[in-house]
Amino acid sequence: MKIAIAGKGGVGKTTLSAALARSLAAHARVVAVDADPNNCLGRALGFSESALEEIAPLSEMKERLAERAGTGEGGSFFALDPRVEDLLGRFGVEQGEITLLVMGTVDEPGAGCVCPESAVLKALVRHLVGLEELSLVMDMDAGLEHLGRGTAQHVGALLIVTEPTTASARTAARIARLAKGLGLRVPGVVLNKASSGKAGEQVSAYLGGLEVIGTLPADPQVSGSEVVPEAGAYVKAVGDLRKRLSTWLDSEDV
Ligand SMILES: Nc1ncnc2c1ncn2[C@@H]1O[C@H](COP(=O)(O)OP(=O)(O)OP(=O)(O)O)[C@@H](O)[C@H]1O
Ligand SMILES: [Mg+2]
Repeated sequence: MKIAIAGKGGVGKTTLSAALARSLAAHARVVAVDADPNNCLGRALGFSESALEEIAPLSEMKERLAERAGTGEGGSFFALDPRVEDLLGRFGVEQGEITLLVMGTVDEPGAGCVCPESAVLKALVRHLVGLEELSLVMDMDAGLEHLGRGTAQHVGALLIVTEPTTASARTAARIARLAKGLGLRVPGVVLNKASSGKAGEQVSAYLGGLEVIGTLPADPQVSGSEVVPEAGAYVKAVGDLRKRLSTWLDSEDV
């Protein structure tokens, strides 16, 4: 399974990315891509501080990449050196079956453009997506930088998260329109922090016809911890969601 996760700010993208990566890791090797400049995915996955400090963000690697490629283009670098173990070893940090790739932080205020890093990430993602044996989960930023830049396009499928609020449902519908316009497949929307079975009814009118592919409960174990818990109501629901997503992705041949 290769999937990117988007949605309005704070709806639970990083939490779902981490929980889905864990669920997938029981079946295959997983690459978890943190494409949000805030870099929260590693902590949500429970990577240690020392492991996270070891990570060389892609933003810091770009000069070395440029040297290797002879240009600033990530694409030619990968043509030169396509060994995935090498790439993941250089950029990623591993914990069990999960390798975390961090896109990099934006260090200077106002320096919002991540174009060169984005080119590198795009090339790397394109490369990883071609590897059948790997699963990939990409945690996107709320600002949709990567949708605009096409980074997520190579992943092929975009899962959208919403809370049971009209504002986040409207955003979900807008993201789905954008994504489909870019040729991405959208399996549907995940209704997160649902406190009752009726949560979906409150927002369905705002989802622009998007199918609700999964409902995840509001779980105090989740909100109470930076690291996504190993078990509980939320984790179980993510396991069910993983199965539905697999079926959908297989049927769509993504
Ligand atoms: N199902 C849930 N039950 C309870 N709390 C949740 C649930 N899902 C997410 N949360 C909590 O909501 C907050 C936001 O979650 P998260 O960081 O995953 O959102 P996000 O969409 O990645 O945010 P951002 O847009 O800032 O990247 C966190 O405190 C998280 O613990
Ligand atoms: Mg996040």
